[in-house]
Amino acid sequence: MKLWTGRFHKEPDQKTNDFNSSISFDSRMYRQDIEGSMAHAAMLGACGIIDKDEAQAIQDGLAGILEDLESGALAIDPDAEDIHTFVEGELTARLGDAGKRLHTARSRNDQVALDVRLYLKNEAQGLMAQLKELIGVLCGKAQEHAGDVMPGYTHLQRAQPITFGHHLMAYAEMLLRDLGRLQDAVGRMDQCPLGSGALAGTTYPIDREITARALGFAAPTANSLDGVADRDFCVELAAALSLIMVHLSRFCEEIILWCSWEFKFVELDDAFSTGSSIMPQKKNPDIAELVRGKSGRVFGDLITLLTMLKGLPLAYNKDMQEDKEAVFDAVDTVKLCLTAFTPMISTMRVLPGNMRKAAAGGFINATDCADYLTKKGVPFRDAYRITGALVARCIELGLTLETLPLSEYTALSPEFDEGVYEAISLEACAGGRKSYGGPAKENVLAQVKRVRKLLEAAGE
Ligand code: ARG
Repeated sequence: MKLWTGRFHKEPDQKTNDFNSSISFDSRMYRQDIEGSMAHAAMLGACGIIDKDEAQAIQDGLAGILEDLESGALAIDPDAEDIHTFVEGELTARLGDAGKRLHTARSRNDQVALDVRLYLKNEAQGLMAQLKELIGVLCGKAQEHAGDVMPGYTHLQRAQPITFGHHLMAYAEMLLRDLGRLQDAVGRMDQCPLGSGALAGTTYPIDREITARALGFAAPTANSLDGVADRDFCVELAAALSLIMVHLSRFCEEIILWCSWEFKFVELDDAFSTGSSIMPQKKNPDIAELVRGKSGRVFGDLITLLTMLKGLPLAYNKDMQEDKEAVFDAVDTVKLCLTAFTPMISTMRVLPGNMRKAAAGGFINATDCADYLTKKGVPFRDAYRITGALVARCIELGLTLETLPLSEYTALSPEFDEGVYEAISLEACAGGRKSYGGPAKENVLAQVKRVRKLLEAAGE
């Protein structure tokens, strides 16, 4: 059934109907649509715009539709134009005239703006819970490996020793910022557009505070044009989700590297790895690769939303129907990725021995060797040059700074003595980096404690 039959002399062409229809992707908002309509009907009754009994009949009718949809007794008609049309049509089929009064002082334009906000607010809560779970898992692993030394990299070249706990907690910080971004997005989403009408409000004496409150919003939107034309909240959410994917993707890249025989810093649990159909020895980090690969979808969704919006004159334009597939895909993708990623991390076996072995090569303690001289009064630039020469000497002799004889050291600077070996030991290099935010074990443990407190405050 079309809602807009009066002006038209023909039924729409079937292909036009299919092209125009959004039911295949907006039916997932049936609950929000029904809840919005119930609040609207209650408000119409409370304000004396429709009869109180009819308002009640509408609410009961809508509750019945919701129940039947959830039990499977009622199926959504795939030929309906959209979920709003379907629910209203079904209500009218059940109630007759009372059903036809529901749309008083309302438009599908404020209705869809409302439904999407309600839907996304709810999804964002679920995403935040998933993020908190992952951050909690990282805290647990970081605590376990707070003092395990690994090479820290720049340019993917061994740079300075860090701890595995420190490395993991870097991701916890990123995810905490992601959590904050989701919270911010939800905060700005928290205004109710219902009552904006098609674009210009209404002459009926509606009470927008009533509906806003009933639907759990902080306030009604302040401008009717903006109320129906704003999709910033979709963009903001997609942007926050894109950054989550950037972080997961970077993490995945590292996990893929760490799983390789070249690194072997971690081993993924069998349940979270896959094999090859031809190479019997293979154990592939497919989950990590897929998450990395799926990041592109979410960035694409963000670009879709930005592009869809950028040229639109106020207020509603049908282009805006394209918001849903993009933002839903972004939400679904991140949800799916987190569902697979978090248990992959929590079950991953860490191999500290291999990390330590890697940290022992590559002259990762060269900075500490220079620092040793500097602490004895040698200017840092000179200490840097002397240490560089020592590294060159090691390479010549096939040795490391730890195994280079003291005579080689003293030949380059008289400031060296036996103490240098202690100063460049991996434990001293990683454990001594106690500056705030540094990788020393005690710092990692303090950071874990701090993050756990934040999670608790955020309602974990
Ligand atoms: N299916 C439409 C959407 O998703 C609902 C709003 C339709 N409004 C209209 N005036 N055609 O945007």
